[in-house]
Amino acid sequence: MAEVSLDHIEKVYDNGFHAIKDLSLSVSDGEFLVLVGPSGCGKTTALRMIAGLEQITAGDLRIGERVVNNVNARDRDIAMVFQSYALYPHLSVGSNIGFGLELRKMAKDKVRDSVTSVAKTLDLTSMLNRKPKQLSGGQRQRVAMGRAIVREPEVFLMDEPLSNLDAKLRVQMRAEISTLQRRLGTTTIYVTHDQIEAMTMGDRVAVMRLGELQQADSPTELYQNPANIFVAGFIGTPPMTMFHADLTIEGDSATIHIGQREKQHITLAPSVLQQRPGLRQYNGSDIVVGVRSEDLYLEVEGNAPVVVDTELVESLGSSKHVHFLLDAKPVSEDLLGGGVPDPEDIARLGTDDGTRGVAALGPRAAVRAGERMTLGVDTEHVHFFSPETGLAIRA
Ligand SMILES: Nc1ncnc2c1ncn2[C@@H]1O[C@H](COP(=O)(O)OP(=O)(O)O)[C@@H](O)[C@H]1O
Ligand SMILES: [Mg+2]
Repeated sequence: MAEVSLDHIEKVYDNGFHAIKDLSLSVSDGEFLVLVGPSGCGKTTALRMIAGLEQITAGDLRIGERVVNNVNARDRDIAMVFQSYALYPHLSVGSNIGFGLELRKMAKDKVRDSVTSVAKTLDLTSMLNRKPKQLSGGQRQRVAMGRAIVREPEVFLMDEPLSNLDAKLRVQMRAEISTLQRRLGTTTIYVTHDQIEAMTMGDRVAVMRLGELQQADSPTELYQNPANIFVAGFIGTPPMTMFHADLTIEGDSATIHIGQREKQHITLAPSVLQQRPGLRQYNGSDIVVGVRSEDLYLEVEGNAPVVVDTELVESLGSSKHVHFLLDAKPVSEDLLGGGVPDPEDIARLGTDDGTRGVAALGPRAAVRAGERMTLGVDTEHVHFFSPETGLAIRA
C-alpha cells in the first residue's frame, strides 16, 4: 500500500540546468499514473528522483507516510523498468528474474518458487533457461517486467519500457502491462513521450513541458478540457486545429473573424457565451480558437461555415482525415512547442499562408486534395485560449 507524493519538487543539475520546476503531484495507492511530455521535458529526471537515483534539489518526496528524500534507492521498496531493460546477458532468464531476490539473501527454494510463479504470469515458463539474446524484443521486455514484479515492491517505475519494440508489439504490450498492473494493484508511475500510449494506459495522465507540470487529469478530461494551448496541441490524434481570430460580441451573440487574404467569420452558438462569460473580456480583441477534428464536418447548410483549401486526404477506411489550410494566423511555437523543436510540429503549425488543420470526416465524404472545401464547425465544442498566457478560457 503506497501513495507517492511530490511536494514542490525542484531539480537543478550540477551544471546549473533547472530540469524540474515546482513539481507537485500525488499518485494514489494502486493508481497507474502516466507522465508524458516531449523529449527533454524532465520525465526521466522526475522518475530517477523518485527512484532515488538522482538527488532532489528541493521539496519533499513521500512514499506512503515517509519522506524519502534521503533514503537510499534500495531502501525505497521500488522496482524500476528501464527502456534498455538492463538484463544481464550472461545470466539465464530465470536468474535474471531472481537476481534481485538472491541479492537480498532470500532462500534458494523461495527464489525458485517466486521466479516460477512470475514466469507463469508472464508466459515465460518455457524460456527460463534461455539467455536474453535468444529472446525476441517482446520477451526481453517481459523478463524486465518479471524482474520488477518478483520483488513485490510498493511502487513500479517504468521509463519508456516499450520504446524499443516495433509498433504492433508495442500495442500488445501496452495492454499486457495495463492488465498486469490492474491485477497486481501496485502503484505505478509510467513515463512515455507517446501521447497515445499515455492516453490508453493511464488512469491519470500528467503532462509536462520544459520541466513544469501542465495538467494532471483523466485521459477524457485532458482531451475534452485541456488547460492550455500546449496540452490541447499535445494530446489528441489528429491534433487540434488552433488559430488566432478576432472576437466580437454584440449582446448575446459572439462571432469570430479570421482571414488575412479573405475575411471569413464564424458565428458561435448562443450557449458558448452563456457557458463561458469570461469570453466577454476578449470582445474586440485577439483570441486563440481550437477545434477538434471530429467537430468539423462537410457543410451542407448551417450558419458556421468556413472555406479552406484541401491539401491531403487520408482514407482510413472508417473515416477520412482531411488536411487543410485555413486562412488564419497560426499559433506560435512559443505556446505550442515543447522546447525542443520537432520538424513535425513546425510543419503542423502552418506557414505565412495560414494554419494547417485536420478534419475527421465520414468515409464517403466527397473531398479531393487541391480543391476548396466548405467545413461546418460545431461551435459548441470549440476551445478558446488566451493568446498571451495560452491558458484555456473555460468559464
Ligand atoms: N546529468 C545531467 N546534467 C545536466 N542536465 C541534464 C542531466 N540529465 C538530463 N539533463 C537535462 O535535463 C533535461 C531533462 O532531461 P530528461 O529528464 O532526461 O528528459 P526526458 O526524460 O523528458 O526526455 C534535458 O534538457 C536534459 O538535457
Ligand atoms: Mg527520458
